Amino acid sequence: MLERVPTGIPGFDELCEGGLIRDRSYLVSGTSGSGKTIFAMQFIVNGIKMFNEPGIFIATEERPQHLREHFYVFGWDLEKFEDENMLAIVDATSTKIGLPSDERYIDVRPFDTRSLLDQVITIQDEIGARRAVLDSTTAIGFAIQDPAKFRVELLKIATTMEILGLTSLLTCEIQDLSGDKISRFGVENFVTEGTIVLYFTRSENVRVRSLEIFKMRGSNHSKKIHPFEITEEGIVVHSREEVYTEF
Ligand SMILES: Nc1ncnc2c1ncn2[C@@H]1O[C@H](COP(=O)(O)OP(=O)(O)O)[C@@H](O)[C@H]1O
Ligand SMILES: [Mg+2]
Repeated sequence: MLERVPTGIPGFDELCEGGLIRDRSYLVSGTSGSGKTIFAMQFIVNGIKMFNEPGIFIATEERPQHLREHFYVFGWDLEKFEDENMLAIVDATSTKIGLPSDERYIDVRPFDTRSLLDQVITIQDEIGARRAVLDSTTAIGFAIQDPAKFRVELLKIATTMEILGLTSLLTCEIQDLSGDKISRFGVENFVTEGTIVLYFTRSENVRVRSLEIFKMRGSNHSKKIHPFEITEEGIVVHSREEVYTEF
């Protein structure tokens, strides 16, 4: 029996036999604003609050201080979790854009997989995390550029996470949904065990949020597109409802 790691995101786990498979990596794809960062952080926060599993959040696109402020509105006190050694946020943003950082965990510039993974290994020694997020792979893809090399680097990241006993979400920012493109560089979905796609699509004069489990190895998952909402407590998936949309 494969061990399941519930995301704790209301309505999500029942779509995939109770959750993600332990120690595997999953891609969370979607356009800008589709809810990837919220989904990923909710997975980490629920791990801490509901399952006593520490988490690592690698932020390549937002400074940790912004994350702490933004997520406070959902009632997620990241600073408290950090103080309790239940959460480590890696600042992989500041140095990239040439700003100083007084964060505890900082990734160096230019991007280097080895140094990022060394950082993760150090954090593992300190907090013994079970869940991790890399938000986002797209920034790394732009740093590496060559898709073949990017694929190998992502495979290194995903495999190291697995060996370290981390169930992980890697986010991926796609530009649009035409042509069924579920990843930015066309390689991200090959190195992960599953792909969750978040949609924010127009339906007449409103935009609706929905998600789909596009692929999940080893799981009899829902093949439908389910609506979700971002509430004041985070994402809530309406698992019994379906959305019919032409993309
Ligand atoms: N407190 C909130 N209540 C409802 N919706 C929110 C709240 N905070 C953010 N959002 C929505 O979430 C979107 C951002 O989600 P985010 O996870 O950062 O997207 P992504 O990482 O995919 O770019 C915002 O554009 C907004 O529509
Ligand atoms: Mg984001």
